[in-house]
Amino acid sequence: MIKKGIILAGGKGTRMSPLTKAVNKQLLPIYDKPLIFYPLSILMLANIRDVLIIVNKGQLEQYKKILPPKNNLGIKITYVEQKSPNGLPEAFILGEKFIGRSDVALILGDNFFYAQSLSKILKSCTKLSSGAKIMLHKVGKPERYGVAKIKNRKIINLKEKPKKFYSDLAVTGLYFFDNKVIKYSKSLKPSKRGELEIVDLLRKYLKNNRLKAEYLGRGGAWLDTGSIEDFYKTSSFVSAIENQQGFKIACLEEISLNNNWIKKNHILKAIKFYGKCEYSEYLKKLL
Ligand code: G1P
Repeated sequence: MIKKGIILAGGKGTRMSPLTKAVNKQLLPIYDKPLIFYPLSILMLANIRDVLIIVNKGQLEQYKKILPPKNNLGIKITYVEQKSPNGLPEAFILGEKFIGRSDVALILGDNFFYAQSLSKILKSCTKLSSGAKIMLHKVGKPERYGVAKIKNRKIINLKEKPKKFYSDLAVTGLYFFDNKVIKYSKSLKPSKRGELEIVDLLRKYLKNNRLKAEYLGRGGAWLDTGSIEDFYKTSSFVSAIENQQGFKIACLEEISLNNNWIKKNHILKAIKFYGKCEYSEYLKKLL
């Protein structure tokens, strides 16, 4: 059972400059909350209460300000600073101490997921006993992502941002690994673009037939908020759902309360923390 999760929230967000010149992308708003709330909510929905957030050097204080005090969410948050982004698998090298002997989930700080029965899917992924599991989703522009080729329901190979069509199943930024991930990450060599590549790491599992796939399904939405256009698309999506249906996506306190990790007095504390705002009004309704 996976009980630990890492959010990789480093990176320079160069594709979104000048917005990201002074502020890290994960602190910018997706409609009514900072982006970081969304990946954190996914780990919490997966029943993960022990979280490591990897942030850019010098930005730790901003995260501490924006995220609710951790015991108010009923989870434990640890931070590690990253000097410079050297590829996704670096998360497991920087996170070695945090991971210890456990298995671990990784979510990229800019990934957004929304689907029917999402927590059920997530909980089944955390049941992994060995090997690795990735979440695949069909996309219209596979050249923008890592993709997986499937044959007879099995992953046969992976490619990072293929120039020619290879598969339209994107490897989303949510991964579940056994403890070997530390050893495998350390053995990776930087690619031509000078980074450790997630597909190279996944291939290590594939080689031993230990890489499995899970699907979000066509009723689900996955958005990688890497570009300005996608950032606004995600904001519109959240706004449309929240305003039509009257509930919030990624309300961290609501997830905690539903998981029985916190009590109503924590909600009162949260209202104080956020102050007079629409988010607090929503929290009041939970009481
Ligand atoms: C990264 C990964 C890619 C994955 C994507 C998901 O790409 O390298 O395999 O499909 O995240 O968001 P990046 O967004 O860093 O270009």
